[in-house]
Amino acid sequence: MEEIKLMDEEGRRIDGRRPDELRPIKMKVGVLTRADGSAYLQWGKNKVLAAVYGPREVFPKHLQDPERALLRARYNMASFSVEERKRPGPDRRSIELSKVISEALRAAVFVEQFPKTSIDVFIEILQADAGTRIAGLVAASAALADAGIPMKDLVTGMTVGKVEDTLILDLCKEEDNYGQADLPIAIIPRTGEIVLLQMDGHMTQEEIDRALDMAIRGAMKVYEIQKRALLERYERLVREKEYIADISEV
Ligand code: CDP
Repeated sequence: MEEIKLMDEEGRRIDGRRPDELRPIKMKVGVLTRADGSAYLQWGKNKVLAAVYGPREVFPKHLQDPERALLRARYNMASFSVEERKRPGPDRRSIELSKVISEALRAAVFVEQFPKTSIDVFIEILQADAGTRIAGLVAASAALADAGIPMKDLVTGMTVGKVEDTLILDLCKEEDNYGQADLPIAIIPRTGEIVLLQMDGHMTQEEIDRALDMAIRGAMKVYEIQKRALLERYERLVREKEYIADISEV
């Protein structure tokens, strides 16, 4: 395999970042008219759209749960989202990611408040550059909040990895592909629950402890961006209402 240098002598990464530096993140909530809630997220070169429908009638009906809402998230990667065209439709990886994302969101939503219904979450990866499971989850949880679905808190997350024996925050694709390890994590900040934790590669126990600490600190920055995007959404709504009130007085 071709040798790829992922860190220079000064400790700068392949894209110029320092080990603990995040990629730029931009988020907008309420971007789709037909969905009950939605969010668009740009995280580095990742571009992710999340749409939420529900609580609504369950289809097919036999999946209905008399005790709680059925929360189903579907992670989908567009064919044009990756370097080599991805075959459309679900594959092993997207089925796994849909499962872990659904479980993480289920831990945050008060599903018992909506028995016999379904809450459907669609995550579309339009452009992928590593960290899309966490980006999808972050966008989806903001979309759930936008849909007004009661939750303990938003779900937020981060990926930490290891290249050249150094722990790094928020891996880009080259670091994910050629690095020594990657560890995505998602948390519910208010309760401190870890709702997703996976790892690929090798880290020592001491590295895992440090990686978790680093990831949680990074995730809290993403949490602030999510909250700000939601706030901007409601400020926008208030401005629109005031405008309508103004013109109706004319
Ligand atoms: O995206 P995430 O890091 O959560 O998942 P991954 O399975 O570790 O994939 C890492 C990255 O590899 C993705 O974000 C894509 O950029 C890339 N990838 C790809 O190019 N083609 C695929 N079929 C799957 C992933």
